[in-house]
Formats: sequence, C-alpha cells, structure tokens
Amino acid sequence: MTGTPCGAAAGDGRYGEAFFRPGQAGEGERIDFGALAYDDFTMARLRALGAGPGWRCLDVGAGTGTVSCRLLREAGVASVLAVDRDVRFLGDRPLPGLDVREADITLPDFAPGRFQLVHARFVLMHLPERDRMITALAELVAPGGVLVLSDAVDLTSDRAPGTPYTAVMRAMWQGLRTAIGTDVSWVPSYPQLLRGAGLKSVAAEIYVPPLLPGSAISRFWEDTWERSRAAMLATGLVDDAAMDAAVRYVKSEECAALSAGMLTAWGRKPEEDAA
Ligand SMILES: C[S@@+](CC[C@H](N)C(=O)[O-])C[C@H]1O[C@@H](n2cnc3c(N)ncnc32)[C@H](O)[C@@H]1O
Repeated sequence: MTGTPCGAAAGDGRYGEAFFRPGQAGEGERIDFGALAYDDFTMARLRALGAGPGWRCLDVGAGTGTVSCRLLREAGVASVLAVDRDVRFLGDRPLPGLDVREADITLPDFAPGRFQLVHARFVLMHLPERDRMITALAELVAPGGVLVLSDAVDLTSDRAPGTPYTAVMRAMWQGLRTAIGTDVSWVPSYPQLLRGAGLKSVAAEIYVPPLLPGSAISRFWEDTWERSRAAMLATGLVDDAAMDAAVRYVKSEECAALSAGMLTAWGRKPEEDAA
C-alpha cells in the first residue's frame, strides 16, 4: 500500500474523526442514502430470523436509526437499544420502545445486557480488532437469539473492467484503509468468525443494489467519495479529474458497473447456554 498521509501508520485515524464526522453538514443524509439502498433487504432478513413481538434488540453503530425504528414500527419488536459513539441523529426519532445510548462499543466497559437480536451494519468494517468485537457482540446475545452483521464486500477485482467507477472505488478502499483503518478484506470471513464465536446455524448472503443513475446507492457513493477525497487522492491512484469523471459516470446512462455489495452474516446462540 502506498501514499500513507502525514506518515501515519495504516489505520491510525478513526471513523467519524478526519473522515465522516457526524458534525459535517450532510453526514446524516449520506447515511440515509445508504439506508435507503439497504434497509428493505436488512429488514427482510431480520424478520426472517424471527425479529418480532417480544424481542429485545440492540442496534450498534445505529447511525440515523432507520433500522432501529423499522424494527419497532414494522416488525413490532418490544424494544430497541440504539447505540452510537455520536447519537445526534438518533435524538430526532423519538419512538416508544426506542432507547438511545451514546457509547463506544470497542471499550471494555460496554456491557448493555443481553438481547434476542444484536445487529451491526456498516460498523465493524471501520473498527480495529474485528475478531474481538465479534466475540464481544456474541456475548450480548441471549440464548436462542441471533447476532447479525452486515458490511461491505468489494466487487472491484483485478479483472473488473477499467471504468472511472472502478478506479475510484479501488482508491476509496485503499485510502480509507490507510487513513482510518476501514478494511473490508476480511468481511467474507464473517461466517467462520461467527462460528468461532460459538454461534450455530451460521449463514450469509450478499445483496448488490443496482447502480442506476440518481439511485440512492449512486448518491451514497458520490457523497462518500467527496467526503473521503483527501484519503483517495493520497493513494496516488486517482486525481481530481478522475474523481470528477467517476461522479459524471455514475450519473450517466453510460454507467455499467457493480456497486459494492452488502454481506449479511448471522449466527444463533444455542439455547442450552440458558443454564
Ligand atoms: C456507516 S455508519 C452506519 C450506520 C447504520 N448502522 C446504518 O447502516 O445505516 C457507521 C456508524 O457507526 C458508528 N460508530 C463508529 N465507530 C463506533 C464505535 N466505536 N462505537 C459506536 N458507534 C460507532 C458511527 O458513529 C456511525 O453512526
């Protein structure tokens, strides 16, 4: 990997500091574009896994709280504890059954109780010590409950056609990895990591939202590139002109590319742990 900015070691920074600061204008809207692209798929999986009346749920790194709210409104769960390092976007959504807590889930004192559903979407990929985090989140699952993890999978392999889009996506993954430690390379290992954490009935699926001009996912990527521009330029893989060309490309009818996918993996805590 090249182009480490300011001589920092890979991943010295953190999500929400140099990049994707919650206080930066429009950051809530960026998260909502991602939610618009992925929420229906997430909700269908959570309901298929049993999320419904009587369930106590934990949504970690809840962002703007779209999944937390839909669990209450549509799935009819009993309660959702929505946790984020910065809860400014969650205060806007008061709802019976929704509790909001500001906490850093990587700290050892994060122990909010046990839940039938523990859900984390687009969070672990930004955090260090992923194995430890998966084990820690598995410990928060009540017997019979499920841990559901979703994160991005990069579909720009070496053989992907050379388009303006693939060039910036490669620069984005490399730049974010160097700047804030975001690493999606291990996401396909989720099923094994969940199994290693003692969960059963482990499975996974991938959803790739259609990258159509004007779609929520296109707008999410445009916004994400703009906010991570400095990290992307620092890779040396793209320049400003290449980034502008990629934005024009995804807005145009020329666009013919695969968005990054969302891998969702889950595992169930054995009932016998109840003893
Ligand atoms: C990309 S957003 C995803 C939001 C939401 N889960 C969704 O899918 O729409 C990542 C979220 O994780 C939160 N986050 C990042 N690191 C965290 C940490 N260490 N503890 C708690 N939340 C964290 C961020 O503040 C942000 O709201």
